[in-house]
Amino acid sequence: MTYYEDSSNLDLLAVKTEFQGKGVAQKLVVWLEAVALNAGIRKIYVQARETNKQGVEFYKKLGYKKFAEKQQVYGIESQIRMFKKLC
Ligand SMILES: CC(C)(COP(=O)(O)OP(=O)(O)OC[C@H]1O[C@@H](n2cnc3c(N)ncnc32)[C@H](O)[C@@H]1OP(=O)(O)O)[C@@H](O)C(=O)NCCC(=O)NCCS
Repeated sequence: MTYYEDSSNLDLLAVKTEFQGKGVAQKLVVWLEAVALNAGIRKIYVQARETNKQGVEFYKKLGYKKFAEKQQVYGIESQIRMFKKLC
């Protein structure tokens, strides 16, 4: 997580394959959100490759909304940008 004045960006999030689907990432993000809110952060930004459907679905489930699509950030793939207002 990178912290700014009143927002932050979740730069990297991954759970080892054998531990996926057990609620690990959800617990981590809920904890990160609580820490951010406590520090005065009001908005969290996340991003995923356009082809990473599981990543996008994961963030949607946690209340993140798509607001932009950046073209070819990863060379040949677009990046979906999402955010969540904490309060
Ligand atoms: C995305 C990722 C972090 C999710 O981690 P996880 O620990 O398996 O996720 P959780 O078990 O906490 O899932 C929470 C919710 O997200 C959604 N979700 C998670 N994986 C999903 C999938 N493959 N397809 C659809 N929805 C999914 C579900 O709604 C799930 O809730 P449910 O189990 O009650 O249905 C993991 O799949 C991962 O490391 N992927 C590769 C890296 C990545 O994509 N990082 C994020 C974007 S860059």
